[in-house]
Amino acid sequence: MWTRTRPFNGVVHHRPFCLAEGDRRPLESAPVTEIPEHLLKRSQERRAALGLGGGDGGAEAPAAGATEPSTAVAKSAETAPAAPVGRAARAEPTPAPAAKPDPPYVVAAKRRRRVPYFAMPVLALLPVWGMFYWFSVQPPPPDQNDPLVVGAQVYAANCSTCHGSNGEGGSGPKLADGEVLKTFKDPLAQARWVTYGKTHGGPDANGNYGDKDRPGGQRSVDEFGGAMPSAEKDLGLTPDQIVAVVRHERETLSKEKTPPAGQEVTTDKVAAYIKDNPATG
Ligand code: HEC
Repeated sequence: MWTRTRPFNGVVHHRPFCLAEGDRRPLESAPVTEIPEHLLKRSQERRAALGLGGGDGGAEAPAAGATEPSTAVAKSAETAPAAPVGRAARAEPTPAPAAKPDPPYVVAAKRRRRVPYFAMPVLALLPVWGMFYWFSVQPPPPDQNDPLVVGAQVYAANCSTCHGSNGEGGSGPKLADGEVLKTFKDPLAQARWVTYGKTHGGPDANGNYGDKDRPGGQRSVDEFGGAMPSAEKDLGLTPDQIVAVVRHERETLSKEKTPPAGQEVTTDKVAAYIKDNPATG
């Protein structure tokens, strides 16, 4: 197989055909347009008439170009006065249709700055960070703020040595099984007692403390060998901790019914009560 080149209007056409069969049957795989011989000839004549020359058919045409060049040019000038003669004769290739402009969103997407590669690990770790963040901002489990949980901790650390870890009593009186509820019907009075203890003016001047109408008689500090410390002055508990430990003694150790919401012993109520019932000594 070989290729024959035929110039036409400056364009080179490659037209493969099979030599072995002796004919010029074009190969089916070559989609080349066949230009009829008479058109080629006409083109060559025309070019010759305009004095442009070129092409392999130049040998046939020059005669015409040489004989009447001026007439040919004049004719051309008549038909297309504005355009340059030579160029007008040439078949101007139609410009390829302008590419359809991208829609604005595609333009924006192309202009947008890409995520740099070094940001990839950061992006990959983002969900992990999110999980940590999520768990860190979660409110603490409700137990941590539950006064009864706080009260149990305060009791174990400050009171259990004398009253027993379950309020069963020791050097101090028994608090469990409703005993402390007998001594103090009013939890505020109990909070005042715990705040001052025996050591800082909890009992009356005669040594008695708690309800006067207690079954079996009012309590007296003379009944017990030890001395009840002041939760505030001796043990250094905060008013909130005192409220919590009082609730623990009553509601957990002595099984008092949990008061309805809004009726619990509060720090404010205890402070107000203590103001009205100051220490006796
Ligand atoms: C050093 C031992 C000791 C410690 C610690 C102690 N207490 Fe007492 N507690 C006593 C004694 C003794 C009494 C009896 C009154 C007295 O003789 O002082 C008492 C009495 C009480 C009473 C009255 C009980 C009743 O029915 O008569 C309550 C309530 C009480 N203590 C609560 C507490 C709380 C709450 C704590 C911890 C914050 C605590 N106590 C720590 C020794 C102690």
